Amino acid sequence: MIFAQAASVLTLTVPGRADDLEAGKAQFLKSCGTCHSAEPGAAPRQGPNLHGVIGRKAGTLPGFTYSPALQSWGEVWTEDLLEPWITNAQLTRPGTVMNYRQADEDKRKLIIQYLKSLSAK
Ligand code: HEC
Repeated sequence: MIFAQAASVLTLTVPGRADDLEAGKAQFLKSCGTCHSAEPGAAPRQGPNLHGVIGRKAGTLPGFTYSPALQSWGEVWTEDLLEPWITNAQLTRPGTVMNYRQADEDKRKLIIQYLKSLSAK
């Protein structure tokens, strides 16, 4: 039984799109889920809902009160912008109230791919 459980944990890390998205969702929930939901239409937490964030203009989701730094930024969220943002949000846009850093490139990639899967249309 112990071996069977270990094997089922390992299958989560086998490369492959569906598995990567599962791993990405798990990483998102762990790293971002305290402050962000990504379910369609879910209420904001400390941060705004991130469903469909790629392609959205920063600081514009109705019903969430952003910092002046995000409201006035004028950038549109892309994969390339999310990468530095989750590496170090406050360095990417000084004045933001999102205080978050993720030093692990693999974790960043998983999270960004997951958010992309919720944005692609
Ligand atoms: C401690 C809480 C917290 C954590 C953890 C956190 N965020 Fe945030 N996030 C915020 C807050 C608060 C804002 C609003 C920032 C502002 O208005 O300056 C925000 C804003 C954002 C935005 C801008 C959205 C928009 O509509 O413009 C993105 C994208 C984002 N976060 C992604 C992430 C991702 C991805 C993670 C995990 C890797 C993460 N955040 C982790 C609190 C958090």
